[in-house]
Amino acid sequence: MYLWTKLFHLLFVIAWMACVFYLPRILVNLAEAGADAAVRERLGLMGRRLYRFGHVMFGIALLLGLTLWLHFRMGVGQGWVHAKLMLVVMLLLHFVFTGRWIKRAVAGAALPSPTALRWFNEIPLLLAIPVLWLVYFKPF
Ligand code: HEM
Repeated sequence: MYLWTKLFHLLFVIAWMACVFYLPRILVNLAEAGADAAVRERLGLMGRRLYRFGHVMFGIALLLGLTLWLHFRMGVGQGWVHAKLMLVVMLLLHFVFTGRWIKRAVAGAALPSPTALRWFNEIPLLLAIPVLWLVYFKPF
């Protein structure tokens, strides 16, 4: 059961991370769409759907992660789980911030340049690398 839980934890993490990586790309596309109302509307719809789907994927990944931790007791009493959770909270904040930003942008709020948004896009990558490092190296 432990390995099945881990397998499905990974599956839902992958699904959530796909949303985390793609949602900011929609923001870049919105910034490039200019005043084209039809394109903005379509991107807004895609963004809202991806954002909602991401919440469901995150919820399941979280439940399975908590099961691995508190039921199968992987990492209990070790620092890496806490450090990982801190980084996961940052990933979640980035995701929620991006989702709300898309809603504001569709409603007409101004956006930074596409280049600045591409940098904003890289933040989840910079957070995901240490998450994976912590899980695999378990350094403390
Ligand atoms: C949401 C809260 C989360 C909790 C409480 C949690 C907790 C855990 C625990 C306790 C393990 C078991 C480690 C082991 O068996 O050695 C695990 C495995 C793993 N987690 Fe999470 N996790 C969470 C979210 C995430 C996220 C967001 C990612 C990726 C960005 C992630 C990536 C992984 C990976 C790659 C493994 C598998 C390690 C292996 O192959 O042995 N987790 N998680």
